[in-house]
Amino acid sequence: MTFPQMKDLDLQGQKAMLRLDLNVPMENGQITSDARIKAVIPTILAIQKQGGKVIVLSHLGRPNPEAPKASDSLQPVAEKLAQLTGQQVHFEPNWIESIPDIENGIVVCENVRFHEGETSNSEAFSKQIASLCDVYVMDAFGAAHRKHATTYGVITFVQIACAGPLLTSEIESLSKAMQEPERPLVAIIGGAKVSSKLGVIETLAGICDHIIVGGAIANTFLSSAQIETGNSLIESDMVAVAKRILKSNQVNVPLPSDVMVAKELSQESEAVRKSVADIERDDQILDIGPETAKAYKHIINSAKTIIWNGPLGVFEIDQFSGGTQALALAVAESNSYTLVGGGDTVAVIEKYGIKDSIDYVSSGGGAFLEFIKSGKLLSLEALSRHAKS
Ligand code: 3PG
Ligand code: MG
Repeated sequence: MTFPQMKDLDLQGQKAMLRLDLNVPMENGQITSDARIKAVIPTILAIQKQGGKVIVLSHLGRPNPEAPKASDSLQPVAEKLAQLTGQQVHFEPNWIESIPDIENGIVVCENVRFHEGETSNSEAFSKQIASLCDVYVMDAFGAAHRKHATTYGVITFVQIACAGPLLTSEIESLSKAMQEPERPLVAIIGGAKVSSKLGVIETLAGICDHIIVGGAIANTFLSSAQIETGNSLIESDMVAVAKRILKSNQVNVPLPSDVMVAKELSQESEAVRKSVADIERDDQILDIGPETAKAYKHIINSAKTIIWNGPLGVFEIDQFSGGTQALALAVAESNSYTLVGGGDTVAVIEKYGIKDSIDYVSSGGGAFLEFIKSGKLLSLEALSRHAKS
C-alpha cells in the first residue's frame, strides 16, 4: 500500500496537527512507561526543524465523553513531554474552539476522547479538526486500526495529510518481517487474550515455519489435542481453529510437554512442574515447564526472523515467570531479525533488560496484531485514498 509520507512534504511555516498515540500506562496519576512518548520525539523535532508548528493530538484511556474524569486528562503526558524535550509545552483544554499560535514550543491538546465525536467518527467533529490546521500528520501507529475522527475521519477533510515517520517505520518493519522474511520465520504468540489473536494465528499459520504458543493460546491448543487442561484459561471458540492448524501440517506448532501448574493463581501459590499427561482437573497451567522451554529455545536458536507477541506464562509472578524469561533470553541471544509488539511483551523485554537486543520494538498493541492479521490499517487506507483524490 502506498501512502503520502511526511518526509516528502515542505512544512515551512505550516501549522502541523500531529496525531500521536500517547496512550501511556498510568498508575495513581504517574506514567509507568514513557516509551510511547519517547518514540515520537523524533517526529516532533523533524517538523520543527523544517520550520513547522506542532500541535499534538492524542487519546488516553477510554473515558466517557459525557463525564470525563480528571484522571483521564493528558496533562501529565504534556508535562512529561516538556521534561523529555526541554521545550515549552502549552496544554490546551479548549483546543476544539481555537488553538493559540505560540512562537516556540509545542501545543498539546486535551484528550480527544473527551469529545463524543471522536469514537463515533463524527463528520462535523472531523471537519472542525480539519479547519484547525494546514497539514495533518498521522503518526499514531498504536491507534491506526481505529475508525475514529482523529485517526480516520479527519483525513478526508484536510488539505494535506500524510503518515509520520513512526507510522511509516512500523509499517516498513512489519512488512519486512511478514512479506520477505529470512527463514525460518518463527512467531511466538502468548498472552491471556485469545480471541483477539485468533485471526492473527490463522494468518501466521500461512506464512510461518514455526509458531511457538504460550499462555491461554497454548492451553487452547493442548485442549484441541484432547489433553486435559484442568481449570486453565482456554478459549473454547478457538479449539476448532487450533485443531485445524495442528492437522493442516502447514506450520509446525510444537505443544508443551511439561507445564507449571497451581491450584490457584496468586503471589503465594506454589508452582508444581507436571508433564502435560498428569494435569489434574483442578490444576491451572500458569507457565510452560523447563523441558518445553528447552525445546522452544532450540527452535528460536535456528530462527532467522522472529515475531513475538504475548508472554508464555504469568511472568508478573516469579514462580510462573521461568518460561517467559527463558524465551526472552533466547530471543535476545538469537542472530535473527527480531520484532516485538504489544504492551505486555514490551513489559517483558523491559523486565529482563533485553530491549537493546531486539531489532524492532513496536509501539502498537491492537494495531500491531491487526496489521499482522490483515496487512491493513484503517488510517493507512484513509491516507492512500486522500492521496488519490
Ligand atoms: C492501545 O493502547 O492499544 C492504543 O492506544 C489503542 O487504544 P484503544 O484500544 O483504547 O483504542
Ligand atoms: Mg489497548
